[in-house]
Amino acid sequence: MELDKSEIIQLPKIFDKRGNLSIIEGVNHIPFKIERTYWIYDVPGGEIRGGHAYKQNQEFIVALSGSFDVGLDDGRVRKTYSLNRSYYGLYVPKGTWRQMQNFSTNSLALILASIRFDPDDYIYDYAIFTKIIKEKTI
Ligand code: TYD
Repeated sequence: MELDKSEIIQLPKIFDKRGNLSIIEGVNHIPFKIERTYWIYDVPGGEIRGGHAYKQNQEFIVALSGSFDVGLDDGRVRKTYSLNRSYYGLYVPKGTWRQMQNFSTNSLALILASIRFDPDDYIYDYAIFTKIIKEKTI
C-alpha cells in the first residue's frame, strides 16, 4: 500500500544563536532526486489546495512557516498529517491522493518534487484514481 511509504522525516537542524539552519539534500535526506521546487503562499483562510494524485511524481512537503494539514489517501486508507515545523517534512509517495488545508495566516509550504511539471501526471478525478488503484496500473 502506497500510504505505508508516507512518512514524516526529521531534517537536520543546526542550532545557532545567530539563527537556526536546516537542510534538505535530495536522495540523502529524502528518498528521491529533486527535479523541481515550488511553494504555496498567500493562501486565503479556508482554502484547500491539491485535491489530486500524481501517477509518478513523489513529493516532500515542508511548512517553512506557519502550519497546515496534508490529507493523504491511497484509495484504501486515509491519513492526515499536520505540519508546523520547518525541520520536519512529509514524504508523499507516488500514486497518492493529496489535499492541503487549514493553512494558518502567512503560512509557507515548500514542496520538492521528483519530476518536472507534467500535466499528464495528474489525476484530478477521485473515481478514476480509485479505479486505477484497483486495477493496479500506477
Ligand atoms: P496544482 O498542482 O493544481 O496546485 P495545487 O495542487 O497546490 O492546488 O497547480 C496549480 C496551477 O499551477 C496549475 O495550473 C498548474 C500550475 N503549475 C505549474 O505550471 N507548474 C508546477 O510545477 C505546479 C506545481 C503547478
